[in-house]
Amino acid sequence: MSMAVRSARLACGPRGALLLLLVILLSALVVLHKVIQSPLLNQNKILQDHLRGQHERHIRSTRTILLWTDFFGDPRWKLSWDTLGPQELRDELHCPVYQCEISNQHAFLPAVELYDAIVFHAAEMFPLLRPVPSHRSPHQAYVFALMEPPGETKHRLDDEQGFYNLTMTYRLDSDVIWPYGQLLDIATDAVVAPSVKPPWRKPPATFNDTLVWNLWSGKTKTAAWFVSHCATLSKREVLANRLQEFFNVDIYGKCGTLRCTRGDPRCDEMLDTDYFFYLAFENSLCDDYVTEKLFDALQRTVVPVVFGGADYSRILPPHSYVDANRFETVEELARYLNFVAGDPDMYVSYFWWRSHYRLVPSSPFCDLCARLHAPAFGHKTQFYHNIQSWWFNSCRLESRIRL
Ligand SMILES: *[C@@H]1O[C@H](CO)[C@@H](O)[C@H](O)[C@H]1NC(C)=O
Ligand SMILES: *[C@@H]1O[C@H](CO)[C@@H](O)[C@H](O)[C@H]1NC(C)=O
Repeated sequence: MSMAVRSARLACGPRGALLLLLVILLSALVVLHKVIQSPLLNQNKILQDHLRGQHERHIRSTRTILLWTDFFGDPRWKLSWDTLGPQELRDELHCPVYQCEISNQHAFLPAVELYDAIVFHAAEMFPLLRPVPSHRSPHQAYVFALMEPPGETKHRLDDEQGFYNLTMTYRLDSDVIWPYGQLLDIATDAVVAPSVKPPWRKPPATFNDTLVWNLWSGKTKTAAWFVSHCATLSKREVLANRLQEFFNVDIYGKCGTLRCTRGDPRCDEMLDTDYFFYLAFENSLCDDYVTEKLFDALQRTVVPVVFGGADYSRILPPHSYVDANRFETVEELARYLNFVAGDPDMYVSYFWWRSHYRLVPSSPFCDLCARLHAPAFGHKTQFYHNIQSWWFNSCRLESRIRL
């Protein structure tokens, strides 16, 4: 019997039929699988699987950040160690995305091109001996880090056009925002400001507070000003002088006659007990720029009078401060301040926000870490072609209030 006859017989027998059925079933399964997995039916799942995998790969791989320069003499940039790993970012800084290592040790990785980000403090000259890294990878980000306003940037930026990939400053249009202080909504635990449009609560129609009321009745002096730079771009000294035509401004520090050592608790206490207003006048009029002094004053029972280039509604709750630039003339401002100081209901109402918001410290390194993990990072290159104009164009010389 030839092979051909035998296999034909096999195919015709009951076992053959079974085999044929099996083959048909298998092919059907393969076709069914193809159909189910086809983008025609299942594109969402394909995308989902891809993104999940990518997200996990992103989170799992740690990003490394090198602090190239120091921060005003502090090689640790106010962090607690020379090198911080994911554990410190999670437990000490409470970063939501914490898979990063931050170090000021230049030999932390074997080659400088391996860091994902290199941070430069642009308020000072770069170190003479080691100005910038000798090698640069196109995948890494050079970070322009700065807390001082443009007028205090002691550094030539026109040499650095096209150098930086990310900005990390107090400006709200920075890639990584680095504010002097943040306000948290006590009820939701969410940080609400500074931001472009904070979802502020509305101040209540009436508000009373025994503590503030009692302090108000003991206060006798109108305004305190703590200042060490006397001639400034903003001409705040002119505003303070003009206010002296209407009431006493007590000037503490180099530009006045009164002294109070920084950090002495009595300086803070006297704001609660003696003064109605604290002058938080900035040295330059720049977008989003306010100093830590403003946040220090918020901790006391004193109403800040602000003068600066920021839109303060991005930073402070409504009806918690008096903005000099809301007035046309110094006389109008002075008249308003005298009115508020003389009316206890009005004065006390400026403290409504304290039962809803709390000041919290912030670290820009959490944001930087998150930024380096964002899906867009690594798919898109970006750099600041003209960092000097990006930085300088945020300031003005003229204030709204006429000086
Ligand atoms: C606010 O509280 C103080 C002290 O408790 C009280 O003397 C004062 O009359 C209150 N003011 C109003 C408008 O209720
Ligand atoms: C950073 O900027 C440089 C140009 O200065 C560019 O070559 C590089 O690709 C940029 N890197 C990223 C991650 O955007």
